Amino acid sequence: MQEIIRQLEEKREKARLGGGQKRIDAQHAKGKLTARERILLLLDDDSFEEWDMFKEHRCAEFGMNADHIPGDGVVTGYGTVNGRLVFVFSQDFTVFGGSLSETHAEKICKVMDHAMKVGAPVIGLNDSGGARIQEGVDSLGGYADVFQRNVLASGVVPQISLIMGPCAGGAVYSPSMTDFIFMVKDSSYMFVTGPEVVKTVTHEEVTAEELGGAVTHTSKSGVADLAFENDVEALMMTRRLVGYIPGSNRDKPPVVPSVDPADRLDYSLDTLVPSNANQPYDMKELIVKMVDDGDFFELQPDYAKNIIIGFARMEGAPVGIVANQPLVLAGCLDIKSSIKAARFVRFCDAFNIPVVTLVDVPGFMPGTAQEYGGIIKHGAKLLYAYAECTVPKVTLITRKAYGGAYDVMSSKHLRGDVNFAWPSAEIAVMGPKGAVEIIFREEKNDPEKIAEREAMYKQRFANPFVAGARGFIDDVIMPHETRKRICRSLSMLKDKQLENPWRKHGNIPL
Ligand code: HXC
Repeated sequence: MQEIIRQLEEKREKARLGGGQKRIDAQHAKGKLTARERILLLLDDDSFEEWDMFKEHRCAEFGMNADHIPGDGVVTGYGTVNGRLVFVFSQDFTVFGGSLSETHAEKICKVMDHAMKVGAPVIGLNDSGGARIQEGVDSLGGYADVFQRNVLASGVVPQISLIMGPCAGGAVYSPSMTDFIFMVKDSSYMFVTGPEVVKTVTHEEVTAEELGGAVTHTSKSGVADLAFENDVEALMMTRRLVGYIPGSNRDKPPVVPSVDPADRLDYSLDTLVPSNANQPYDMKELIVKMVDDGDFFELQPDYAKNIIIGFARMEGAPVGIVANQPLVLAGCLDIKSSIKAARFVRFCDAFNIPVVTLVDVPGFMPGTAQEYGGIIKHGAKLLYAYAECTVPKVTLITRKAYGGAYDVMSSKHLRGDVNFAWPSAEIAVMGPKGAVEIIFREEKNDPEKIAEREAMYKQRFANPFVAGARGFIDDVIMPHETRKRICRSLSMLKDKQLENPWRKHGNIPL
C-alpha cells in the first residue's frame, strides 16, 4: 500500500508540473501565472477539488503517441469563492501551448455539465494556442462540444471568461457567448484572424495588441467588459463579480448584511442637476450616493460611455444599474450604448437581479452613421430587453426623458414597477426648442415670439407633472430622498411574480 501511495504522489507531482519547469519559467517571464497558480488565487483557500488530473490525449499522429502529459493542458474542477460554489477550468499554456484537444474539451464539458446540473457559475481561464494542430478535426469537434454547452448554459448558470493569454480563431467564440469577459493588459489578445492574415487580406499593418488586446476590446469593440493590469487583479475582480450573481437562474442573488441605512438622505443631490438644461452633470455621482457604501462595480466603463452599466447593492441585495450619462453625447442612445445596456438588462433578467434605471436621455442619436449602422434594429434591442424583463424594475427620471427614448428606458408602459421623477424631470416628445421650432415654424424669424413660445412650452410640458397626472410616474420625489424611496420600492418588490407567455423563444432584433 505504501508503494501505491508513493506512486500516486509521484503521478500527482508530475501532473502538477504540467509542461515542466522550463516552460513554467517561460510563463512567469511573460508576467503570467500558471494555470494552477491562477486557480489557487481565484478560489478560497483549500477549496479546490480537481478532476481528471490524469486524463491524457488519444492522438497518435505526428509522434504524439510518445508525448503524453497528464491533464492534457487544462486544469478543471470546482471550489468556492467566498464560500459559494463555482466550477472552473484553467488552460495550461505550458502543456502543448494550452491547445485544445478532444480530451481537453471533454474535461471542460464535464465541469460545464455538472455546473448546469447543480446550478453554479462556470469560470473559464483561457490561455491557449487554439485547436491542437496535431489532432485536426477531433479538436474542432471538441470546440463545438464546448460551444454547444455555452449556449445551453446561457441564462441557466452564469458564465465568466478570463482571457489571460492567446485566444484566436474560432476559439474566441466560446468566451464570446459567456456573460462576462475580463482581459489582462499586454498579455492577452482575442481575434478571429491574426495580424499576419489581416496584412495579407486587407494590407493593414497592426500589432496583436492593437488588433485584439485588452484595451482594444474594452474601448473599441466592446467585446470585453474590463481590462486589468495583471493576472492577480483580474482574478480578484472576478471574485468580486461572483459576489453579485446567483449560482443559477433558479437562485436569488446573494444578499449580504448592510450597515448603510436604507433611509440615508443625501442633500447634495438636490443640486446635482444644473438649472441650465444643456449643462451636463455626472450621473455616476448619483449612483455612488444612492447605493450601499458608495460601492459600484461598473462594467464596460470605457465603451459607449453615454450609458453606464454595473452592479451595486441596495440594503445588501444586488441590483443592476443602467443609467444615461449626460457627460457623454448628452446621454443620448446610439447603437453601441443600446447594445451594451440591452445585454446587461437581459443578464439581470435571466438571473433574478432587479434593474434600477436612471434616466436623463435627450433621444436617439441622429445621423447617417447611426441610420446606416442600423440604429433602428439596435435601439430596438434595448426596448425589447426592457419589455421582456420580468424582474423588479425601478426607474428614476432625473432630467430629460424625450421621445422614443422615454418609452425605451424602463418606462411604465414597458411594465416598469415603480417609476419616479425628480422635480427637474422633463418628460416630453422633444425638448422645448425643437418642439417650438416645429409647431410655430411660421414665427421662426421672430426671436421674441419664439422665446415666449418656448417658455410656454417649457412650463406646460417640460416637467414631470403631465406624466404624473396620467399615472405614468408614480411619484415626484425629492432628490435627497432617492436612496430611501428606491430601497423601499425594491423591498416591496422582493417577491414580485410575473411571467411572459409561453414561447420557444422570442426573436430579439439581432
Ligand atoms: C499544438 C501548440 C499550439 C497548437 C502552440 N503550441 N500552439 N501545439 N497546437 N495550436 C505549442 C508550441 O508548439 C510550443 O511547443 C508551445 O505550444 C508554446 O508555443 P510557442 O509558439 O513557443 O509560444 P509563443 O511564442 O508564446 O506563441 C504562442 C502562439 C503560437 C502565438 C499561440 O504558439 C502560435 O501561433 N500557435 C499556433 C496557433 C494556431 O495557429 N492555432 C490553431 C488556430 S485555428 P513547445 O513544445 O515548443 O513548448 C483554431 C481554430 C479553432 O484555433 C476553431 C474552433 C472552431
